[in-house]
Amino acid sequence: MPATVDVQRLDLPSSTPEQRALMIYVHVPFCHSKCTFCDWVQAIPTADLLRKPEDSVRQNYIRALCSEIELRGAELAAAGSHVPYVVYWGGGTASSLNEDESAAIMTALRESFDLSTVREATIECSPDTLDERKLRFYRELGFNRVSSGVQSFDDTRLRRLGRRHNSGQAERVVHAAREAGFDEVSIDIMSGFPDQELDELNHTVERALALPLSHLSLYSFRPTPGTFMRRKVDAAEKREYLKRQKILFTVARRRIEESGLSEYASGYFGKVSPFAAMYFQLRADTVGLGSGAISVVNKRFLSHTKGRLHDYIARPTGFDISVDAGQDRVLVSFLQAGLAMFDGILRTEWQITTGTELGEVLTRPAIAPLADFLRTRGLVEDERGIRLDPKSAGLTLIELAFEMAMSQPELA
Ligand SMILES: C[S@@+](CC[C@H](N)C(=O)[O-])C[C@H]1O[C@@H](n2cnc3c(N)ncnc32)[C@H](O)[C@@H]1O
Ligand code: SF4
Repeated sequence: MPATVDVQRLDLPSSTPEQRALMIYVHVPFCHSKCTFCDWVQAIPTADLLRKPEDSVRQNYIRALCSEIELRGAELAAAGSHVPYVVYWGGGTASSLNEDESAAIMTALRESFDLSTVREATIECSPDTLDERKLRFYRELGFNRVSSGVQSFDDTRLRRLGRRHNSGQAERVVHAAREAGFDEVSIDIMSGFPDQELDELNHTVERALALPLSHLSLYSFRPTPGTFMRRKVDAAEKREYLKRQKILFTVARRRIEESGLSEYASGYFGKVSPFAAMYFQLRADTVGLGSGAISVVNKRFLSHTKGRLHDYIARPTGFDISVDAGQDRVLVSFLQAGLAMFDGILRTEWQITTGTELGEVLTRPAIAPLADFLRTRGLVEDERGIRLDPKSAGLTLIELAFEMAMSQPELA
C-alpha cells in the first residue's frame, strides 16, 4: 500500500496568490428519485427534486443558473486571477438534465469562462438517466470523465434503496461509456447499510471489479438525519453498528486494492482524479454555480443553501452565506475533506486558499479537540503539511462522519 500518493505526476498547476487554478462546479438539484440513503438531497423538498424539464420552475432554474454563470464568469475574467482547470457537474443528478438543458448550461459556461485550459470535465450520473446516445452527446459537449452512482449490484438492495435502475443497467452504462469514447469511467458503490451482510457487499465489489473502470469510489453509509435509512439505525446499538461498518469497509477496500486499483484517498481507488486532488487538497479556488453550490474564491466562502430553489431562482447571484474562509466551521470541513487524501493537507495551498496558517488553526479552541483526536490516530505533522496514515485514515474518517451524523437529532 503506498504511504503517500505521487500527485506530482498529475502535473497539477502550482498556485500562486496571484494566479490560481479554478474548479468550476455546477450543481443540478434534480433527480429521478429520492434514494433512501442519500444525504446530498435530503434538504431538497421532494417536489422540487423530482421536477421535470417541462416544469416552469425547472425552466426558470436553468435560466437562473445560466445568468449566474454569466455574471460570475465575467467577474473572474475581469480580475484575470484564475485559470479554469477542472469542470465538475454534480448534484443531485447532473445527467437527469435533458440534452437541451445540458447544452444551454455548457454554452453559458463556454461564453463566460475560457475553458481551453480545462484538463478534466466530469459529469455525475445515475444509470437510469443514461444510454449510449446520451453518453456520445456528453463527449461532444466536452466531458472526458463520467462518474456514475451505482451503490450496489444486488437488485433487491437497489429496489430498497429507491434506485430506478437494476444492476444489469449499471453494468451496461459502464461499457457504453467506454464505447462512447470515455477513458475515465468511475462508479460509486456503498458499504455499511444497517442490515448489510458481508456476502452481499462482496458480491457488489466483485461485479464492480469485473467492469472496465478507471476509478472506483467506496462510501460507507453516513446515517445523516433526514435520510429514510437513518431511521433504521438503532441509536442504542450504534457502537456495534459502527464496528460492523468498519469491518465491511476494510474487507471491501482490501479486495479492491488486491485487484490492482490502488487507494489514493480514503475510499477512492484507481487513477487519481485532478478534481479529487484539487478538491481535497485545496489546490484550487472553486466557483460553485447553482442552488446548493459552494464557492471558495479569494479566501471567501460563499454558498447558496441547498433546498432553497425558489430563492435561488429569484436571486441567483446572491449568497445565503458569505463569510471569510478562515472561519472555524469552514476549516473543520476542509480538514475532514483534506485528510481523506493520503498525500494530506499541504500548508502552502491551505494558506493561499483560506488565508490562515495551518499550525495556528489546529490550536484554536473550536478545533484543538479534533486535532487531539486525530493525533491519537497517528496524525503526521511536518513541514509539508499534515496527513493520516493510509492504513487507518479511512476508518478514522468513517468514525468521525458517523459520530457527527449520529450526534445530530433525527428530524421530526
Ligand atoms: C451526490 S451523490 C450523486 C450520485 C448520483 N446522483 C446517483 O445517484 O447515481 C454522490 C454519491 O454520494 C454517495 N452518498 C450519498 N448519500 C450518502 C450517505 N448517506 N453516506 C455515504 N455516501 C453517500 C453515493 O454513493 C452517491 O453515489
Ligand atoms: S443518490 Fe443520486 S439519485 Fe439518489 S437521491 Fe442522491 S443524488 Fe439523487
